[in-house]
Formats: sequence, C-alpha cells, structure tokens
Amino acid sequence: MNVLDALRARRSVRGFRSEPVPHETLRAIFAAAQCAPSWCNIQPWRVVVTSGEATQRLTRALCEAATTSPPSPDFAWPGEFPEPYNTHRRECGRALYTAMNVARTDAQGRHRAWMRNYEAFDAPHVAIVSVDRRLGPYAFLDLGCWLQSLMLAAWEQGVACCAQASLSTHPSVLRAALAIPDDEGVVFGLAIGFEDAAVPANACRTGRADVDANVRFVG
Ligand SMILES: Cc1cc2nc3c(=O)[nH]c(=O)nc-3n(C[C@H](O)[C@H](O)[C@H](O)COP(=O)(O)O)c2cc1C
Repeated sequence: MNVLDALRARRSVRGFRSEPVPHETLRAIFAAAQCAPSWCNIQPWRVVVTSGEATQRLTRALCEAATTSPPSPDFAWPGEFPEPYNTHRRECGRALYTAMNVARTDAQGRHRAWMRNYEAFDAPHVAIVSVDRRLGPYAFLDLGCWLQSLMLAAWEQGVACCAQASLSTHPSVLRAALAIPDDEGVVFGLAIGFEDAAVPANACRTGRADVDANVRFVG
C-alpha cells in the first residue's frame, strides 16, 4: 500500500475483534512511527501500550472513574467550537450516531455511545500518549505527526485504530495503572486491534472539505 492509498483509506475504527495483535506486528508499527518528524528531532511522544489483562484492568478502571467522577484532563479541552468548526463537529457526530442507530434525542443512547470510549471499543490494546509538561505547543504538533504516522503504519499492516482524546479525561487513573510520571501530561489515547466489521459504529464514514476551503495557493 502506498502512502496516498493509506491516507485515503484510513479511518477510525470503533469496534474490535478480541484477538490480540501479534507482538512483533505491534512493535513494527510503533517502530515505524518513530520515523515521525519533530521540532529539532526531540521525539517528545511518551507512550504506554497495554495488552491482555492490562487492557481489561485499565478499561474497567476508566469506566468506573467516568461514572463516578467528572473529567479532569491534564490539558484543557476546547470549550466552544466557532464556525465552521462546529458544523464539521456536528457532521462527525451525526455520521457516528447514524451508523450506531442512535437518535439525536436519545440521551441514554448517546451516553452509552460515549461510554464505549472508556471500553476502548473492546480493543485488545490501548496506547496512552503523554508529553513532558515543560514543552510548549509545538510538542503537541510533534505528537500529531507521530499519531498520523502510527495510524498509517497500522492501517498498512491491517491493524485498525481510533485516536481518543476521551481517554485523557481521568489521568489519575492512568498514572496509577501505568506508572506515568507526574511531570508528563496525558494528551490522548488510542484503541488498537483488528476491526470487527460487524460492529455498526464501523459503518461510520466522515467527509472532508474541498482543499480550497483550507488552502490558498498564491502565485
Ligand atoms: C486527537 C484526536 C482525538 C480523537 N478523539 C476521539 C475520541 O475520543 N473518540 C472517538 O470516537 N473518536 C475520536 N477521534 C476520531 C475522530 O473523530 C476522527 O478522526 C474524525 O471524525 C475523522 O474520521 P476518520 O478518522 O474516520 O477519518 C479523535 C481523533 C483525533 C485526531
């Protein structure tokens, strides 16, 4: 698969088969993502990857925390999304809830759909990504380069992912379970595994604006 094919085909997967990804494959994917560029090559992504019982323990603890305590992420989430971002956000939500057959007015259904995040959509592996708190916003850019590199490398290997900001809402749980040091802030997580095509959420497809909506070519 070439890079353009992977870029066009990759999508977020939110329902996984239980079988684990072989360790050599997981390692190869994370090793490929090490090629991501970063400012002065500082390589600031810090990642813990769970398998087996460690994934079960983590998702159980996250579900418990999400039902008993409010979100308290290390880095503030965006508040309001002005236009045109809010329209994109709503279209994304509509695509997902339509695939899951959850009506806009079904508050319980939407809550259950949100809670699937904390189950990591039944993925056999979870990756938690943190960054040294002393680094500024450009380190987040580096993490973004790493994230897309990882997701494309995974897709090429037949392994599916969903990047999840939702996994950052209860960092104290992650610190306790995964020995993440206090001087690192948790930024996001990923669910990783083999896609279960029978899960309705995996019928979700998102669109993109035309390139001219985002890019001006000058000269
Ligand atoms: C940094 C980041 C955080 C995300 N957090 C979540 C999340 O918490 N839950 C979720 O279901 N999807 C999450 N997503 C997936 C996006 O919703 C998805 O990438 C977007 O809708 C585009 O769809 P696609 O990935 O299928 O192309 C996240 C994506 C990124 C890049």
